[in-house]
Amino acid sequence: MIGRMKKIVVLISGRGSNMVALARACREQNWPARIEAVIADREDAPGCEAARSLGLRVEVVAFRQYPGRDAFDAALAEKLESLAPDVVALAGFMRVLAPGLVARYQGRMLNVHPSLLPAFPGLATHRRALEGGVRVHGATVHYVSAELDGGAIIAQAAVAVRPDDDATRLSARVLAAEHRIYPMAMAWHLAGRLHVEGHRVRLGGAQIDERQSIWLD
Ligand code: GAR
Repeated sequence: MIGRMKKIVVLISGRGSNMVALARACREQNWPARIEAVIADREDAPGCEAARSLGLRVEVVAFRQYPGRDAFDAALAEKLESLAPDVVALAGFMRVLAPGLVARYQGRMLNVHPSLLPAFPGLATHRRALEGGVRVHGATVHYVSAELDGGAIIAQAAVAVRPDDDATRLSARVLAAEHRIYPMAMAWHLAGRLHVEGHRVRLGGAQIDERQSIWLD
């Protein structure tokens, strides 16, 4: 029996390049899924246009149109509920989600973060990595938990810090790494190949756990 197509909803706040990487991989790799909608928390997010040009449905739940955090969270929860996603993909969504929302999508909400977690959670990761003098930086895809950037890690890609790096140059290489591991992790999730054991995520179906760690120059 052919299973039904899973519905992915992608949440963005900005440029949306990770959303585009997911949408392209979904189409090119024939995932058993479709991008049901892209939700932005601001109407002027450049990613909205990028999504529309890919023929994707765009919904805006604009933070500034709500009197406060609680009202925004409620509107976002309602919008998500109406779309009935199987999977929620955070892709440069720059707001901390309400605990209830995180709980609702536990085990089926993924995020990409521009550092090798648990190093550098939060913002300005590239600047902090450079200031911290780390030699290896990178990107992480993880399940979302109540702890900010603290959920179980699915995949990581490491990039070497170069002597002439500034935050712009470093972020460009990390972003390329994100575009590589986010679709990969999502495909594994959709195929039911990921098994969460406490804080560890095991890739089942083959003995190739090494694919969860990628090294890039
Ligand atoms: C990406 O680097 C993503 O990892 C980061 O924002 C950027 C969004 O780029 N997300 C976070 O920092 C979340 N904590 P994009 O809009 O082009 O995908």
